[in-house]
Amino acid sequence: MAEDRRLVWDLPLRVFHWLFATSIFASWATAKAGFDWMQWHFYLGYWIIGLLVFRIIWGFFGPRHARFGSFVRKPSAIWLYMKNMFARTGVQSIGHNPVGGLMVILMIVLVAVQASTGLFTTDDVVWAGPYNPAVSKSTASWLSTVHNVNFNFILGAIGLHLAAIAFYGFVKKQNLVLPMLTGHKPAALIPAHEAISSSELLKAMIVSAISSGFVYWLVTHAPPSADSLY
Ligand code: HEM
Repeated sequence: MAEDRRLVWDLPLRVFHWLFATSIFASWATAKAGFDWMQWHFYLGYWIIGLLVFRIIWGFFGPRHARFGSFVRKPSAIWLYMKNMFARTGVQSIGHNPVGGLMVILMIVLVAVQASTGLFTTDDVVWAGPYNPAVSKSTASWLSTVHNVNFNFILGAIGLHLAAIAFYGFVKKQNLVLPMLTGHKPAALIPAHEAISSSELLKAMIVSAISSGFVYWLVTHAPPSADSLY
């Protein structure tokens, strides 16, 4: 029954989440699958840049609980939350809790570093990101190292993310996964004034168009590659 539950996570945020998770997995898989899959790895990188741009704009203009302003907290508030975080009981947060909010920012920053350095990265054999010709060989080599090393931090962040969700589920008995799928949390936990009234889909379509336009501009404005100079 609709009265038993209240909308907290808007549909665009949920679609973003699951696309983000699967795209990161797919970009890892295509990087590991070798040479023949590298073109797909590039496409996934552009796609992930689009997702990031979408999420950043959505963090300013999306519904309440998607906004950075609703979950980015001062270090003192994060510390206070951390001190009680491992207690078995505790009040369920409406949107992201202060530590979860920090993780969201961390993941967005790490993936942004990964995708942007990918634009300059080269395997020194055949494949080079579209902006590789814009930088010197030594800068490209440094950015390629960052692209390789940073993925380990992303893996670490995903590991922490999944461990935190498992901890909330099994120890604190708070199922965070279902709301990330359905968007709803039980009405008993969410005061009516904290719920969101809509997923703001028209706005999401405009933000998607802006994000896609940005990616198109980025890819089509890459400098000519060394090959095409001949
Ligand atoms: C590659 C893997 C993943 C990445 C990169 C990732 C990333 C993220 C990000 C960025 C958010 C914040 C959502 C937002 O505000 O935009 C988030 C939240 C969340 N994710 Fe994931 N995620 C991954 C996998 C998963 C999986 C497999 C699950 C479920 C088993 C999951 C469950 C959740 C839940 C429940 C939240 C909301 C937590 C809360 O209530 O504050 N995630 N994730």
